[in-house]
Amino acid sequence: MTGLYERLTEAAGALARLTGFERHDVVVVLGSGLGGYPASLEDAAAVPYTDLPGFPIPQAAGHAGTAYSVRMGGNRVLLLSGRVHDYEGYPADVITFPVRTAILAGCRTVVLTNAAGGCGEGIEPGDLVLITDHINLAGVSPLRGDNDERLGPRFPDMTDLYTPALRDKARAAAAEAGVTLGEGVYMWWHGPMFETPAEIRMAMILGASLVGMSTVPEAVAARHMGADVLAVSLCTNRAAGLSGRRITSEEVIEAAAQAAGRFRAFFDALLPGL
Ligand code: HPA
Repeated sequence: MTGLYERLTEAAGALARLTGFERHDVVVVLGSGLGGYPASLEDAAAVPYTDLPGFPIPQAAGHAGTAYSVRMGGNRVLLLSGRVHDYEGYPADVITFPVRTAILAGCRTVVLTNAAGGCGEGIEPGDLVLITDHINLAGVSPLRGDNDERLGPRFPDMTDLYTPALRDKARAAAAEAGVTLGEGVYMWWHGPMFETPAEIRMAMILGASLVGMSTVPEAVAARHMGADVLAVSLCTNRAAGLSGRRITSEEVIEAAAQAAGRFRAFFDALLPGL
């Protein structure tokens, strides 16, 4: 089998050819229920993942599988509507393939979004929350296996993984858009089951404010390749045991849909200035 670096180079070449742009500056991964954002952007060139060699095709509800290329301010932005997850059975190097491709295609800034359960104080359904750090509870690394030095170092540092300067820009964009932006540590779980109430009590003791099933592999791979990372969760529900109700995937999608307007206002303010 061809090596990862060669497969990424091939995908980056296809991306350049099919979008008509040799380089992109910023990549945005749109999480569950947030994939409708590109529809609000003018002149976005759409490329289905099926045309991008090596891109895994999303199956989960709310994940479309289309890449959009659009100019926003001084940036050529690549929006990835749809991602695959560990719970679908994909290994971490496949989960991170689209983000790694975007970085090889020039992106120095990676913006990750997701739907998450909230367990931090004051983090309520509908809130946008800046991820300040993460806990890799799933214990899976996208860097497992042989390391290719062309992609990054064997032992990358994870201090300030979520770039402080980007977090400042996110706070400013939220203020400009009139959107409240919470902050917290995200804990990555395998899923696909939601957590138990006991697991959520543990997550809170360990310092998590958000729980979810994505984002961490892409953030780690992006840091491995030296890109800057910003990550924002949409809290779709209070985490298990905290609301007195059971959690359904329908309420997750519904909460994401209801927050679409605020999400758009925030990203419209943020992306041109990154
Ligand atoms: N837990 C894990 N992932 C999630 C949740 C949750 O409560 N809500 C949305 N994604």
